[in-house]
Amino acid sequence: MKILFVCLGNICRSPLAEGILKKKIEEYGISGIIHSAGFEPYHEGQHPDPRSVATAKNHDIDISGKTARLFTLEDFDNYDKILVMDAMNYADVMRNARNGSDRSKVDYLLNLINEGSDDEVPDPYYGGPSGFDKVFDMMDRACDRIVKDLLN
Ligand code: 4NP
Repeated sequence: MKILFVCLGNICRSPLAEGILKKKIEEYGISGIIHSAGFEPYHEGQHPDPRSVATAKNHDIDISGKTARLFTLEDFDNYDKILVMDAMNYADVMRNARNGSDRSKVDYLLNLINEGSDDEVPDPYYGGPSGFDKVFDMMDRACDRIVKDLLN
């Protein structure tokens, strides 16, 4: 399974989701390719936000080496699933979709645990550290579901 997580800056939410899922599939011996990308070039090439790195570290996950990159059209070819955090990310990805096959790969991450809800993982960038714990828990539950589905 090849999964791409997408948020806006690729420094807070999606690198955390990438780290969470990579750790889970490793624990279960599942092979897969898990990456993340964003749409805002401001932080391109930078490591994740220190608050995301710290939150991951609290759960024995090391995301410090990740560097932010932009979403590209080739991502539609290179991944089976493109999982977004919020409505803005959804619109950004869908605007770039070339056909129905591209569109069928895109979904809100939280739809995996609350089907059809289009619930959002809120952007924690402008808040305090507790926002990062909150988004960690939301994404952790969604990633548990991904692993469960992969094991079935
Ligand atoms: P993320 O958070 O989308 O979860 O990585 C953001 C980080 C930075 C910016 C936006 C969102 N920014 O515009 O700089």
